[in-house]
Formats: sequence, C-alpha cells, structure tokens
Amino acid sequence: MYLSREEERMLSGEEGFAVQKAMELLTALGEVFGAERMVKIESAQIAGVSYGNIGDAGLEFLEDWAGLGGRVRVKSTLNPAGMDLDKWQEMGVEESYYQRQMRILKAFEKMGVEITCTCTPYLVGNRPRPGAHIAWSESSAVVFANSVLGAKTNREGGPSALAAAITGRTPCYGLHLNNNREPTAIVNVEARLKTTFDFSLLGYTVGRILGSGIPYFKGLTGVNLDRLKIMSAALAASGGIAMFRIGKRRREGDKIEKICVDRRELEISRERLSAEGKPDLACIGCPHCSLEELADLARVVRGKKVKKGCALWVWTSREVHNEARDRGYVRAIESAGGKIFTDTCMVVCPLEKSGYSHMISNSCKAVHYVPSTSGLRATVSEMYLLLESVMEG
Ligand code: F3S
Repeated sequence: MYLSREEERMLSGEEGFAVQKAMELLTALGEVFGAERMVKIESAQIAGVSYGNIGDAGLEFLEDWAGLGGRVRVKSTLNPAGMDLDKWQEMGVEESYYQRQMRILKAFEKMGVEITCTCTPYLVGNRPRPGAHIAWSESSAVVFANSVLGAKTNREGGPSALAAAITGRTPCYGLHLNNNREPTAIVNVEARLKTTFDFSLLGYTVGRILGSGIPYFKGLTGVNLDRLKIMSAALAASGGIAMFRIGKRRREGDKIEKICVDRRELEISRERLSAEGKPDLACIGCPHCSLEELADLARVVRGKKVKKGCALWVWTSREVHNEARDRGYVRAIESAGGKIFTDTCMVVCPLEKSGYSHMISNSCKAVHYVPSTSGLRATVSEMYLLLESVMEG
C-alpha cells in the first residue's frame, strides 16, 4: 500500500504514539481490503459510545488512546451514548453505569470529538459536501451519507473511524472508489408507499431479500428526507447494505439482479417484526427524530393522554430537542404524557431497566434489535396505530 511521506512519518511514530497506533490500524485494514493508498477525509462519525455496548474493555481502550495524546484532525462527532446525560435516572440507569458512561465521553472529549451523541450527525452540523470522503460508522448514517448526501464512506467500525479521525485519513477502497458505487440490483417498487413507516418496511424488505450490494430503486414516489432517513436505517439493519440509489440511472441495459417489492413482501417483513401481546412502551425516533418529525408528533398527540401503565418515549439529538423546546413541541408532547430523551436511543440504552416489557415502534431497525439488546418483545407499526396502542383520547 502506497503511503505519502506524511503518512510514513505517522506510521513511524514521529507524530506520537497515538497517531502511530491509529496509522497501524488503518494500514492493516487497507491491506486486508486491498487499498492502494489512503484518502484524506473531511469528517468522522464515531460509534461504539454506549457503555452497555463497549463495556470496561472499550472504556479502557478509549482512556488509553486519549492518554497517549490522541487528538482528532477533522470534524468528528459521536453516535448515541447509553443514556440521556441529564435524565438518566428516569430511564432506570444505575449510578455505576452513569459514572462509566461519563468517563467514556470524557475520553472522547479529550481527543477533541464533539459530544453530539446522535445517529443523525447530518442534522446537527456534520453534513458532508457531495463527493467528500468521510469515515462514518453509524450504519444508518453511512447509508444516508452515501445515498442522499452523495458523500463517500465505508461502513466503519468505531475504532477505525476514531483512527481515521486521528490521522485525517482512511484507506481508499470500497465505496471511496467510484467504480464500486454503481447499482448492483434494480428494485421495482410496486407497493404504493403512503407513510414514513412504509419506507422503513421497504428498506427492511430490500435488505432482507438482497442482503448486500447497492439497490437502485425504481418507481419510488413520495420521497422526503425523513422517509429516506428511516429507510436508510432499515436497509442496514436487515442486510449489510451501505448505499442505495434513486433518481436517474447512468448505466442502462446491464445484466444485474432485478427484484420486485409489492405490498405482500412488505407484509412479510411486518409480520416477522410483530410479537405476541399488548405493547406498553411506544418508541419513536430511530433514527433520531428531526424537528419536522417532532412538530408532526406534537400535532398528532394534542388532546391525547398516555394510558396508565404505558409510556411514549421519543428519541432525538440534544440540538434538535432544544430547537423543538423553543417552538413548543416538547411541551405539547410532554403534556400528553410523553417523554423525550436525548443523547441515546432504545437500542443502545439499557431498556430492560425501563420496567416495560413490549416495545412498539415505527422503525424496523429498532424492532429488529431491541429483543436482542434488552430482551423486550417488539412490534412494528405505523405511527397512528402505534400511538393508539398506548394513548387514549
Ligand atoms: Fe439511531 Fe439508535 Fe436507531 S443509533 S438508527 S436510534 S438504533
């Protein structure tokens, strides 16, 4: 693998031990994937933040790296942590967990990473230019960045995204190369998609059928950013998809796989993501809610009340929450009995401490993961039906 003189210096330890370790990790990764060189990145987005996910070993790894003088060279933001940094007690989080989570965030802060704690970095100021090389690790944000924003990133792991942030580089392979960004399958969308939930189901279904590759969606109408956001998350949950294409295709007539997605296929996915019994916890915000989604939710819950024994938990970033508070959306949702949490989500927080047993959500990604991460039963549903199951009025 070719390294520039500066990169050689990093690898030899001339720029410090942390930079050397980061460069070692990246060159090893580059060699595994056959990269010919490094590419400079404009931003990093780092996963592996929740104490519940990375545990004491991850905490020590991060403190070591920060202690060695690791500092990021590009704009770097963080994925959700394992708790709301203010309302952690309301989530049932224990003191010892809180203390360890805060040490993780301190280590990142020491390295210069912005403590954004969101999977929607593109909504809070980490929005790459079209064509920019980046190193992002949250799978839903990777799909969104490649497909909607036109940036170029592989699906990084937490350590490789951090190493890329520390060196300002990532190995140039996979989706950093234009040749690898062409569609590998055509998806004829024959179902009429009416709701945001339908887009989540579509993403989940295509990931389930294809498993990997770059689907090109034909016949996709009613698209908006929130719908593409939830579809990106679902594509990456049921499959290993890191990019899709919509709009005009450049190459025609090549022999690539073709699949059809009709209402029946969407129903198969919905049934697979439906558990027995009555849900008692409704969750909205996977990926983290945008301001528009909170405005919509505030309107829908007006005049309703969360039923006794049930809960409505909404997940968003701190920045979007603050704007929603200023516009009165937070008050409207809280007046209806809902809670809005920031900095974390239903999948990376210890949801088993919530006291609820059956989550319902409009996000296929959330429902796909929650049973294994926290042991709750989980069901997908369209938003209005989901609210009906936990609210009255
Ligand atoms: Fe985001 Fe958590 Fe869903 S990280 S995409 S809200 S699982």
